[in-house]
Amino acid sequence: DTATSLLQKTPVAASVPSADKSKVTFLYGTQTGTAERFAKQLKSDLQEQYGDTHEFMVEDIEDYDHEELFPKEQLVFLFLATYGDGDPTDSAIKFHKWITEAAKATTEDGAEQSLTGVRFSIFGLGNKQYEHFAAMGKRVNECMLQLGAKEVAPRGDGDDDEDIDEDFEKWKELLLAKVEEQKIMGGEVSRASTEVKRISLPAYEVQLLAGADPKPTLNMHMMASGNGTAPQSPFLARVSTARELHRPDSERSCFHLEVDMTGSAASYEAGDHVGIYVENSADIVEETCRRLQHSPETVLQFRHPAGNPDRLGTCPSGTVTLRTALAQWADVLSPMRKAAFQKFAECGKEVGGAEGERLRRLAGPEGKEEFAAFVQQPQRCLLEVMQAFPSVHPPLGVFFGCIASRLQPRFYSLSSGPGVNPKSLHVTCAVVNDTVPTGRIHKGVGSCWLACKQPGDRLPSFVRRSAFRLPRQLDVPIVMIGPGTGLAPFRGFMQQRAWLHKKSGKELGPAHLFFGCRKREHDFIYQEELEQWKEEGIISHLHLAFSRAGPEKDYVQHKLKQEAAAVWALIQPEAKGYVYVCGDAKHMAKDVHRELVEMARLACGGSASQGEAALQKLVDLGRYQRDVW
Ligand code: 2AM
Repeated sequence: DTATSLLQKTPVAASVPSADKSKVTFLYGTQTGTAERFAKQLKSDLQEQYGDTHEFMVEDIEDYDHEELFPKEQLVFLFLATYGDGDPTDSAIKFHKWITEAAKATTEDGAEQSLTGVRFSIFGLGNKQYEHFAAMGKRVNECMLQLGAKEVAPRGDGDDDEDIDEDFEKWKELLLAKVEEQKIMGGEVSRASTEVKRISLPAYEVQLLAGADPKPTLNMHMMASGNGTAPQSPFLARVSTARELHRPDSERSCFHLEVDMTGSAASYEAGDHVGIYVENSADIVEETCRRLQHSPETVLQFRHPAGNPDRLGTCPSGTVTLRTALAQWADVLSPMRKAAFQKFAECGKEVGGAEGERLRRLAGPEGKEEFAAFVQQPQRCLLEVMQAFPSVHPPLGVFFGCIASRLQPRFYSLSSGPGVNPKSLHVTCAVVNDTVPTGRIHKGVGSCWLACKQPGDRLPSFVRRSAFRLPRQLDVPIVMIGPGTGLAPFRGFMQQRAWLHKKSGKELGPAHLFFGCRKREHDFIYQEELEQWKEEGIISHLHLAFSRAGPEKDYVQHKLKQEAAAVWALIQPEAKGYVYVCGDAKHMAKDVHRELVEMARLACGGSASQGEAALQKLVDLGRYQRDVW
């Protein structure tokens, strides 16, 4: 089916080892494709050196039979990305559960160590702006050691906020040295030189099909015929409502969309997410075409570069127009990677004058600082680099090879409850339109594209389950903290509670909602609904923090501090209350967490670490849940 082929994985090398070769396995748990890219890069480097004596297998951890195969591995390399609040990627959930439970059984119940024959090394991927940086890699590393596996080289951590390619190269260098030093893969090295190769991106082969009919074109809108329950099978949902939530005086925009899934198999619970395949806007596509000097109607076919079948996954398969490839595949607005810049510079070799000189300087070792200031620090993207060097026109194959990853679906916390809206998914989305420190305007791909949607438009969508859940009983107290669009799942919670209450006639427990925005008259979203719920007792306490109404910032954590005694009483074991935090992870969720720790510390009269331990206990009980981004 075409929807499946659209999302198909790039082919990997033969996976059955021949009798006389030892097997080396590379597993990746990826969300955006970076972990997969690194796994394949390391595989290809090791293959070059040890291909005569070893067989190599790269596999998505989701498709790997870990229970059966993992304990039998001799040498395994794991590339594990961290997602959301220190969680595994969707593809690694099962593996993560299995290995943490196995490690726990070993350390707590004295079960036998099951990985004593395994040698391994892990590269964890994450972003230092988040609290639980690369937590997944760290956790799996610990578990493997507890299970008796032996580390070939210490874990590497890649920071996507800085230069993740460089972090990977450093780790790879160390790893290859250890492999060689300890003769882990034997003493025979096929390659004369064992010098570590830098990441270099090959180019796709592109065939221009002049006059060809681009059908069957690769068009998500025509192909999304799935049932809406998984990323591989998006359902072509219909927008039924679209409206602005901010008042006219607000300088920002936040909109409410209702996405109709009637006809799909998708169901959801309050707290779940919807994934939507978004597109680059028409002006971005057209500007990119101008820079590439090709018409958007050009019909193309991509081929993987010969001898390099498994490095790239950033071009569509089949016959496609440049417009479709750029709109639906090419993530042209993500920060540009160093390897991509070098490739870009290569194709601008003949450029003369000041522009050429600058380009070569930036790509070379002497331009390291200038590169950091010009590309890395302002997170300049591929399109902007093309704009900065107007004489360079990368060939299409090079351009698509330079894309860091293909456009990913965007996830939104649902702001509806299934009782009232079983087939209608409500999305609350703030338009990202920020000026970055360099003066550049950063427009969010997903929010800007969705902001233009009208009733009747179609969106390839699917439901993603989350762990963010209301307590089973209606009388259990809940404390919800969600400023800005962090309010979304709580609107879903309130809809659901109101519906359940009406249906069952059962008593509702206390429900505190902490909401924050800039000004009451600008961005107090869903004000009428919240006030109505307050009046009806669906929300027992509504705490509002307006950050720009007076001379002092008033944030949700300040309100939380004022209410500390009442809130803490609800979380006590006898009260069994739940605490939920939703919204910005980089600042808000950290500050709120700190406030909760302080609350716990004061209550137990102990130290900060005792406060932290008390909260961890709540997390373990599922009574402190976060949905943060
Ligand atoms: P500000 O924009 O005035 O700084 C929703 O975005 C609300 O969250 C806004 O009122 C915003 O305030 C506020 N906010 C910004 N940083 C925050 C933080 N660290 N903790 C809590 N709220 C924050």
